[in-house]
Amino acid sequence: MKNNKFILEEFLDNAFNLKSHLMEFLSIKESDLDGFLANAKMNLADLHPGDALTDVSDFYTEIVGNRHIADLAAWHITSRDYIADTLKLQQRFSRDLVLDFGGGIGTHALANAMSSKVEHVFFVDINDTNRNFVEYRAKKLGVEKKLTFCKTIKDAQISKFDTIVCLDVLEHLADPASQIEIFSEIMDSKSIALFNWYFYKGEENEYPFHIDDVQVVEKFFNTLQSIFLEVFHPILITTRAYKKIK
Ligand SMILES: C[S@@+](CC[C@H](N)C(=O)[O-])C[C@H]1O[C@@H](n2cnc3c(N)ncnc32)[C@H](O)[C@@H]1O
Repeated sequence: MKNNKFILEEFLDNAFNLKSHLMEFLSIKESDLDGFLANAKMNLADLHPGDALTDVSDFYTEIVGNRHIADLAAWHITSRDYIADTLKLQQRFSRDLVLDFGGGIGTHALANAMSSKVEHVFFVDINDTNRNFVEYRAKKLGVEKKLTFCKTIKDAQISKFDTIVCLDVLEHLADPASQIEIFSEIMDSKSIALFNWYFYKGEENEYPFHIDDVQVVEKFFNTLQSIFLEVFHPILITTRAYKKIK
């Protein structure tokens, strides 16, 4: 197990060997990697079919393929100070059984698996490629025994989590209010959930896959305030820590 400072330094230094994992997992030559990452954000946005998409989750299961890996990798590399702050935040709260819902390329799940305070991490992501990529990364980093990979929370077969990490995911769901209700059912009075959200499609529709419907967003905030109490932390104000009210 590594200490928190070492884990953060390793992320800031090489994002847990992300570039070499990408090249090997996706069979990309080093000379092609920068181009692959540079265009990732707009490539992902261009894939979105707009209103023609009837089921929001189809975008992640049927359409994105490995393009979401590219988008998330580019983001974690270019915004590494921001991501490092989210890691610092989860280091403050994470313990015992952790659920990482919508875990993406695995930065948070891998960092939690490296922590001595964490017993086991359940990485849940609807996208097969993301799950396979993070399983591959966990083996490369030697933390695979502390991780289980699932498509849904039910597949984890755990009735109570001590920590729930759900970062940059809620705006990707058709009904984020229902999702946090599900989270509250698998928390006890000592569990902590870390959430952030960005219910906005962007200045130039660069996030067409984000939900911004006013009614959906209002239902989310009403639900959040009715079932969760915020727990103060001084680290990163865009990401909030919550415990259950009852
Ligand atoms: C923007 S990424 C965030 C990834 C990661 N949490 C991070 O902070 O880098 C959103 C992730 O949520 C996943 N996702 C979308 N809908 C989901 C669902 N219904 N259940 C589980 N995962 C989902 C996507 O596959 C994607 O990996």
